[in-house]
Amino acid sequence: MQFPKSSGSTGFSQSKIGDRSSSQYALEDRLQIEYLIDPVNAQTDLESAQDVIEGLSKTPKSLPPRYFYDDYGSQLFEQICDLPEYYLTRTEAAIFQEYAGAIAQLTGACEIVELGSGSSSKTRLLLDAYQQQGYPLRYLPIDVSAGILESSARTLLTDYSSLKIHGLVSTYELALERLSPAPLPTRMICFIGSTLGNLNPQECDVFFSQVTQASQTGEYFLLGIDLQKPKELLEAAYNDSQGVTAAFNLNMLSHLNQQFDGNFDLTQFEHWSFYNESLQQIEMHLRSLKAQTVELRDLGVAIAFQSGETILSEISRKFNLAQIQQELESKGLQPIQTWTDPNQWFGLLLCQRCNS
Ligand code: AVI
Repeated sequence: MQFPKSSGSTGFSQSKIGDRSSSQYALEDRLQIEYLIDPVNAQTDLESAQDVIEGLSKTPKSLPPRYFYDDYGSQLFEQICDLPEYYLTRTEAAIFQEYAGAIAQLTGACEIVELGSGSSSKTRLLLDAYQQQGYPLRYLPIDVSAGILESSARTLLTDYSSLKIHGLVSTYELALERLSPAPLPTRMICFIGSTLGNLNPQECDVFFSQVTQASQTGEYFLLGIDLQKPKELLEAAYNDSQGVTAAFNLNMLSHLNQQFDGNFDLTQFEHWSFYNESLQQIEMHLRSLKAQTVELRDLGVAIAFQSGETILSEISRKFNLAQIQQELESKGLQPIQTWTDPNQWFGLLLCQRCNS
């Protein structure tokens, strides 16, 4: 795909051991996975459970979106990314396809850190670009889902023979606090897929400060964001015809059942999502189909629902490029290049940590 260019931004807008083969051994040698959270009990600590209790006790009710992502939820999210209505993934991928080479040229050899790495599919386009330019390949994926992190890392290592991976099973906050010095001249922290949109403005502000603190002067931050667009396109993307988004939303209740010995009946809740134009955000809710009481026995709580009552499970904010550039700059993250697709649906911003 050939994208038009304009000034400033480019316009859019060891030997065998046992039964292992030598190549498998080499793969293990290039893979390190560190657990900063316990993958089994990751969300049973008091602090995590507290936000579930608080969210379900207030009016209107809400739940933290990270509960989407058990292993099954992560698989459903991968399916969402391939849906015809969910333009985000393919639009961002097309921008990477076109400009990954430019990103590699701008940063030079760098360690690629990815927050919420998932399947790492778009990262391949970056790895290809750095490889083509003869740079060493170092990748530090960070994800709360150990299953998807490890399987994606193994697939990448099979496909890129010079790649070294140091994966962190962690939340973003913890990983950013614990980043050790980059093994290459510089580092690029990537937060792509518009996951930023799942943070409210206050959380977003805190997140940018955490990225700034985790970076040395001159290091890079690559941000992918979904841009404002007509309501119809947005609502279709979050109400797909195959019902995958609905299954993804409802799986949060199944995850809570497993995590906290709960008895949410998934047939008695439904997926509901819409674009809130004044707040410029998609809102996903789980709506109770009847008056019911649900228990989360491990947390010692019983939650009463009225018929039609909703739980806000996610916001997905849609951004304005100029506004976000200003916010980044105010946090010491200087946007140095911005790329978008021809429809201006999605934006990719490369920022550099400046002295502040
Ligand atoms: C992960 N995040 C950017 C997705 C989004 O579009 O906000 C999560 C999602 N929720 C429903 N569909 C996809």
